[in-house]
Amino acid sequence: MKNSIPNHVAIIMDGNGRWATRQGKKRTDGHYAGYKRFKQTALYILDKGVKYLSVFAFSTENFKRSEEEVNYLMNLFVTAFKKDKNFFIENDVRVLFSGRKEPLSDEVYNTMKQIEEMTKDCKRGVFNVCINYGGQAEIVDTAKKIARLVKDNKLDINDITEETYYKYQYQDLPPIDLMIRTSGEIRISNFMLYSLSYAELYFTSTCFPDFDEKEFDKALEDYQNRNITKGKA
Ligand code: IPE
Ligand code: IPE
Ligand code: MG
Repeated sequence: MKNSIPNHVAIIMDGNGRWATRQGKKRTDGHYAGYKRFKQTALYILDKGVKYLSVFAFSTENFKRSEEEVNYLMNLFVTAFKKDKNFFIENDVRVLFSGRKEPLSDEVYNTMKQIEEMTKDCKRGVFNVCINYGGQAEIVDTAKKIARLVKDNKLDINDITEETYYKYQYQDLPPIDLMIRTSGEIRISNFMLYSLSYAELYFTSTCFPDFDEKEFDKALEDYQNRNITKGKA
């Protein structure tokens, strides 16, 4: 019997730069192509019955890139998300963001908060967009949040379990069932470390701007045919 559709899919959207360079374009053109691809493939993923889609858009480590590339991406987040706010509302998609505030500009951060607020009643599915995100940072920030709640007597220490821990993370999302990384890199790169604990991993050499519906179908087919044991014999 095939496994059912994964509830929570995560994608490390990698390879935008190489996709562009191979075509003689600028790396930033690859980021623009990646954003367009995200909108298309992400909706398709919800159509397939996936309820939660987490995507890695910008890591804390990505601030080490050139000023030009970082500025381009920050600008893209502001202009694209503002321009597309109706796209998310019309498609009934709730958009959440995960990551640290610092050193994002107020403009980027406020845009993220506005989109979250505007889409908060959308019901078809959830896009969790990770910007200025690090998996270890999330574990540390969650530990601090929990410590504060316990100190203020708002949380009983005995109520912290593997299952309840999820709701204190940046966003209260279920465990990840399937994690996809594009562009041929075979590593986690500090993505959602806690939530990935039992995820099935799928790696493809396709760069993210080419990750279309057919590519997702291949990943899904692979997932549905896996023997997911989670400790059972
Ligand atoms: C992923 O593509 C997008 C971001 C990290 C922002 P890359 O920009 O990492 O593309 P490659 O890996 O250099 O090709
Ligand atoms: C990971 O991609 C982050 C995103 C896709 C946003 P990178 O291309 O930055 O990967 P590493 O961190 O160098 O492995
Ligand atoms: Mg990369």
